Amino acid sequence: MRKFSTRYSRLGTETAFAVGADAAAWAAKGNPVYPFHLGDMNIITPDYILDAANKAARDGKTGYAPGPGILPLREALAENIGKDRGLQFTAENISVQPGGKPVIGKFLGALLEEGAEALYPNPGYPIYESQIEYLGGKALPYGYVPSETGFTINRAEIEAQITDRTSILIYNNYQNPIGAESTVEEMQWLADLAIKHDLWVLSDEAYFEVRYGGTSKSIASLPGMAERTVILYTFSKKFAMTGWRLGCAAGPKAVIEAISKFNTNQESCSNHFVQVAGIACLQGPEKPQKEILNELKIRRDALVDALLDIDGVQVTKPETTFYLFPDVTEIYQRMGYTSPAKFRLDALYETGVSFCSREHFGRRLPGEDRVFIRFAYSGINVDRIQEGLFALKKFWE
Ligand SMILES: Cc1ncc(COP(=O)(O)O)c(C=O)c1O
Repeated sequence: MRKFSTRYSRLGTETAFAVGADAAAWAAKGNPVYPFHLGDMNIITPDYILDAANKAARDGKTGYAPGPGILPLREALAENIGKDRGLQFTAENISVQPGGKPVIGKFLGALLEEGAEALYPNPGYPIYESQIEYLGGKALPYGYVPSETGFTINRAEIEAQITDRTSILIYNNYQNPIGAESTVEEMQWLADLAIKHDLWVLSDEAYFEVRYGGTSKSIASLPGMAERTVILYTFSKKFAMTGWRLGCAAGPKAVIEAISKFNTNQESCSNHFVQVAGIACLQGPEKPQKEILNELKIRRDALVDALLDIDGVQVTKPETTFYLFPDVTEIYQRMGYTSPAKFRLDALYETGVSFCSREHFGRRLPGEDRVFIRFAYSGINVDRIQEGLFALKKFWE
């Protein structure tokens, strides 16, 4: 039998899904499980969106749609994304996608030369590294360092790695897994770097609207950046629509056309009636979206309080995303652990609490000596957060 392709051997995955499998196996044996591992949501999509999709399907929007997306949705996205970020977009700047994730591979497929280098965050969303390597690029990870306000980008790490082969910068402000948010100064530093080295930028803005205080800002809105930046936008989190698969790429017309060419090659189009529902999302009332954010904020506050109540946990309270990234080094050392996997599995088997560890978001970088884990609070109600964390406190203390 012939072997699989070499290219395929470089494809990574989201190892956080394996954590879900451990949790499901444990639950199947009749044990309680508190799911903090996956960034999915247990909040149902607002009614007006369900109604819009239902109506569109019954109206016959069940066939193929244009590859770049239906025009009214592209127009609505251009207006909405442009308004929230202070950018001028038209439909030509928008390529509708089945979710936010496909933007990553299509952006890199269009712009990353084989052998060229791409900077990406680590810890970070694992699909960046997977796609860079799959496409024959060289992945250059950059990390974050704890700061008084949360985490800041390790600028020295970026500067030390950048060469004339570096052509891409992936930036995930409102960051998964650590909830980091750049200051304006940090964002400007990155923009200056991208301009100086003539880099294409993928700005992953999956959590731009998942915000409990303050305002979000896009790197694309800084001078000289709109022409080199593609924004990853998704309906998944802000409208509680993770399973619907609807998002878009927003950016310079030529790159957007290239991305739409991938649509035609890969999935033909995004689901037609889901796209019609997408228009309803953008033009609908604000209240349901606020209710989603209120619920998430209640959970965040409860989880931060419960974590800080455990001796040896350090955690900051991000104003964005639905993740917390606590430092548990003290507990890890106190309990004599040497393996993050065992630390995670023991917590699951002793308390039912299921979380990811730092290792699920990329290889550890040189000099990293702290132990971090990630809690997602989008898929668990507040009473269960408190119950699970009570059990964890008893086990860890
Ligand atoms: C940082 C980041 N980017 C992109 C995505 C992809 O989102 P979608 O569900 O819209 O594909 C996620 C999903 O968890 C994410 O965390």
